[in-house]
Amino acid sequence: MSNAQDSLDGLVTLDAGGAMICLSAPSGQRARILYAGPNVLNASAAQFLKLSAREHAPGGPEQPIAASMLNTIGTGHPSPPGLIAHRDGHDWALDPRVAQLSQDKHSLTLTTRDAQCAVEMAHTIRLHPASGVAQCSTQITNQGDAPLTLYWCAALCLPIDPRLTQITSFAGKWAGEFQTQSHDLVRGSFLQENRSGRTGHANYPGLYLGTAETGENHGHACAVHLGWSGNFRLRVDQLADGNIILQAGELLLPGEIQLQPGATYTAPPLHLCWSNAGYGGVTRRLHRFVRDQLLRPGPAKPVHYNSWEAVYFDHSPEKLMALADHAAAVGAERFVLDDGWFGARRSDKAGLGDWFVSSEVYPGGLKPLADHIRSLGMQFGLWFEPEMVNPDSDLYRAHPDWVLCVPGVESIASRHQLPLDLTRADVCDHLFERITALVAELGIDYIKWDKNRDIQHPGGEDGRAVMHIQVTALYALIDRIRSACPDLVIESCSSGGARADYGILHRTDRVWTSDNNDARARHAIMRGAAHFLPLSVLGNHVGPQRCHITGRQFDMAFRAGTAVFGHMAMEMDLTQESEIDRAILSDAIALHKRHRALIHTGDYHRLETPVHIVAAGIVAADRQEALYQIAVCDQHPTTHPPRLKFAGLDLQQSYAVHCVWPSAHEKPLGSFAGSALMQYGLQLPLTYPDTCLIYHLKAAL
Ligand code: DGJ
Repeated sequence: MSNAQDSLDGLVTLDAGGAMICLSAPSGQRARILYAGPNVLNASAAQFLKLSAREHAPGGPEQPIAASMLNTIGTGHPSPPGLIAHRDGHDWALDPRVAQLSQDKHSLTLTTRDAQCAVEMAHTIRLHPASGVAQCSTQITNQGDAPLTLYWCAALCLPIDPRLTQITSFAGKWAGEFQTQSHDLVRGSFLQENRSGRTGHANYPGLYLGTAETGENHGHACAVHLGWSGNFRLRVDQLADGNIILQAGELLLPGEIQLQPGATYTAPPLHLCWSNAGYGGVTRRLHRFVRDQLLRPGPAKPVHYNSWEAVYFDHSPEKLMALADHAAAVGAERFVLDDGWFGARRSDKAGLGDWFVSSEVYPGGLKPLADHIRSLGMQFGLWFEPEMVNPDSDLYRAHPDWVLCVPGVESIASRHQLPLDLTRADVCDHLFERITALVAELGIDYIKWDKNRDIQHPGGEDGRAVMHIQVTALYALIDRIRSACPDLVIESCSSGGARADYGILHRTDRVWTSDNNDARARHAIMRGAAHFLPLSVLGNHVGPQRCHITGRQFDMAFRAGTAVFGHMAMEMDLTQESEIDRAILSDAIALHKRHRALIHTGDYHRLETPVHIVAAGIVAADRQEALYQIAVCDQHPTTHPPRLKFAGLDLQQSYAVHCVWPSAHEKPLGSFAGSALMQYGLQLPLTYPDTCLIYHLKAAL
């Protein structure tokens, strides 16, 4: 909404969904963000402009140097620049001035130009009214007549409220993704760089920021997320002048972006979100944004069975049909055949890239298995890893030039595989043909799209770095497949959760959160991932009794109760599970299905608990119903467990509380005031460690 007080030239206020962004962008002058944060009642860009006026500081420049959209070097601003570009050592001191500004109700487009350096920047900011999430992107156009080398282009240089000095970042590893780490921002720089050629296990392209007082349900919080599935850099700089500036963008390899005259580079979109209702407030806004803006609407998410940990590469139609029978019997609605069905893929050493059903393993093709699965009422899903090839494969033997590499540099295989060069049209055409042909032939409903290695040397045909185009080519390939097969559902997997960002999520339907099905470890992984992603997209699988990754053993009630919160699936040899355990699993799946709509669309609340307990709740939008999951992951340090304080309920409402999982603790507990449940809490029962309790709350009449 345009604010009446912003009648001065170039003052803009966007105000929607509880968020506000104010800019000063007078024609012919520098543009800057005056404010970005929660809505400030009756405020305007004009007021922020006056309030932010600064005096000359002794020893400093004689004219105040205001920040600009990208704090370009030519302005002399002390912040690390948000744009680093040059033309063969010239035209590096960019100082863009406002050329054009247009605005509608919830978005603006600002064009700035450095006429002398012949570089144009177009900034778009869109505030989504339902969630208050801002999506910002920047385009750089070379208007000169010689190539422009781009080394860094952040989506924005975002001024952060200087009170937001507490950072929560998300680090991890394979089978240990989305681990949260909290730290203070110090004077200087917080820097995260990802060079893995995918979103990555080690860092996640998102951060939360809070003040020293911010908690789950109170205080000022901010979240940022870069929607990009490749290399990235995230930095937060606390400057000597007291300002904090955040930047996020693609980490570009040397010479990777050389803009020819007239060419444009588009930086990945930065998503920003603020709340005065604490970290939980930010999470719920992001979930709303993901659901409304990124995901396709669709029916309820079917419970999966996935074959990986049951058979790995040891496929046989008989075994898989038996697994399908058991999966359907416990309530699976989709059967996903994982790695090992094609070419010479009897281990991870060979066959990758040969997307033809193995006649050695499936003499009658895959159709009989797919038909059997469908006859049991389940959908059929199939695993692919389209971007990769084993050197020991027919594809590589026929096209050794189809892989990314840098001449003279050793291409080190990872998991015995090399990355295909998606920047080549023939490679993408081949993948498109193979995948769509199999979808049509077998009636595939679902693809698990995997990517199992980092890309260290993304050299294209001429040896130049092509990581940027590799990512955009991947996006284009998926988009092409989705438009050819509009009903196809796609899961983004990358050795577990190494590709779970908003860029990929915009063109897929689910992410595989982690290969780690250890129910105890899973709670921290899911809690971390849910800072950015709603439970409806987070795959959560019941694994075997003895976890294949950690070697720990858990009973079925703990494993199955854990997977209820997420997009539920199972991944174990069901023929080896006891009848009793299969019955428990079936009960958990039935519980998930009963509450699936709530779990997948409700408001997510992290509960504050001692460290050995991980708990979260999902509350219906009208707060008439809620489901809470409480995982006791170690012995209580006290003789009795603590009282659990629920969150997200209506203080005025009474709720009938029912412990619905596990069966040993299943019972109605009576009706209690929402205020008492949230502010006093419910005494947890005595349980062994590694127990997952689930409570259902229904507003009492
Ligand atoms: C890695 C995935 O995360 C696993 O679930 C499985 O699909 C394997 N790849 C198959 O190679």
